Amino acid sequence: MDTPITSKATAFASRVKIKESSLRTRMLDIAAGLKDVIALGRGDPDLDTPAHIIEAGQQALGKGATHYTHPFGLPQLREAIGKSIAANGGATYTADEIVVTAGAQESIFVAMLAFLNPGDEVIIASPGYTTYHQAVELADGKIVTVKTYEKDGFALTAEAVKPHITPKSRILCIVNPSNPTGMVIPPSEVEKLAKLAIEHDLLVISDEIYSKLVYDNARVQPVASLPGMFERTITIDGFSKAYAMTGWRIGYFCAPKHLIPAMAEIHHGLAICAAAVSQHAALAAISGPQDCVEEMRRIYDERRLAMCKALEGLGIGFARPNGAFYLYANVSSVGVTASEFCERMLKDARVMMFPGPLYGDHCDDYVRISLLQPVARIQEAAARMAPIVAAMRTAKGT
Ligand SMILES: Cc1ncc(COP(=O)(O)O)c(C=O)c1O
Repeated sequence: MDTPITSKATAFASRVKIKESSLRTRMLDIAAGLKDVIALGRGDPDLDTPAHIIEAGQQALGKGATHYTHPFGLPQLREAIGKSIAANGGATYTADEIVVTAGAQESIFVAMLAFLNPGDEVIIASPGYTTYHQAVELADGKIVTVKTYEKDGFALTAEAVKPHITPKSRILCIVNPSNPTGMVIPPSEVEKLAKLAIEHDLLVISDEIYSKLVYDNARVQPVASLPGMFERTITIDGFSKAYAMTGWRIGYFCAPKHLIPAMAEIHHGLAICAAAVSQHAALAAISGPQDCVEEMRRIYDERRLAMCKALEGLGIGFARPNGAFYLYANVSSVGVTASEFCERMLKDARVMMFPGPLYGDHCDDYVRISLLQPVARIQEAAARMAPIVAAMRTAKGT
């Protein structure tokens, strides 16, 4: 029998915080015992990496891309990333102001580890992408959450951030469009957040990984191109979402030259460099034709509209998303918590979604639904959910 040993040799470091994620684990266990579950919980595109990108990776391997690259990444990739950012209305970065990492995920940890001293405060929206919380904790920083609300389109607003600023505030995180809400922060609000950052001398981490996936003519304002912001902004982006390249593990951060050495040092220590083969594939992605991105965006848009219609049919409220590939639905009208709702939908309708508390939400009213299933499966999910929603309403008298 496996007897747990607790001794000096096996004790976890005090920085390790194993989160009480029992609901996620329970749901995954339930799902494992079910057949034909419609997965609306995932953040990994169901669409495949476009063929020309895969081909570039295969060719690169054939030509010997099996070695370390420059720690910052292939110079031609960094140049192409810089060109693409500028062409899309972002700031102008030179190749030595861009570092390619193992996904945007690595960039988040690198940034926190490079700039936080113990007790430094980091402002993060709630709900949000909880990797930010993990990274802050690992770097001994202090998480300061700012609640965002459906009535404001879940936008992080300068007005809401202001009262949370203290002399210990160090970093303001802006994730735009947002995971889990799928909402774009209006450009005028991003400008106000930037002014606040300048006023209070904050470093800004701007995660723009979903910025190519926007709908209803929404526009993502790149933070670094606003007046006075280049000097104090780390832009994080990647290939996982726009090019359906999650498994290639390739992302990057951009920052002015004076911020690079600290981050480059940590990146080298953690990863040496991003995988060479993935860098070659990413080069094909960013410098090749962009119609694949538009095609995937159009597919997500169709699914978004189908899901909005399905939720309207179910009488479930939501903030109509205009970015990313998520929808954040308010299930409080059904008379149960979001956690109960998700568990019941999985067991009785075989539809998998995750509740807001898994995204650090301050309330248990919302469910994140990802749009990573074809329209027909989204419609089927809604049809399976309808009788359960009705039964829950009857039981609760709502
Ligand atoms: C907001 C946000 N940033 C970063 C990441 C990490 O992406 P990558 O696959 O590039 O590590 C994700 C993944 O879900 C995300 O939602």
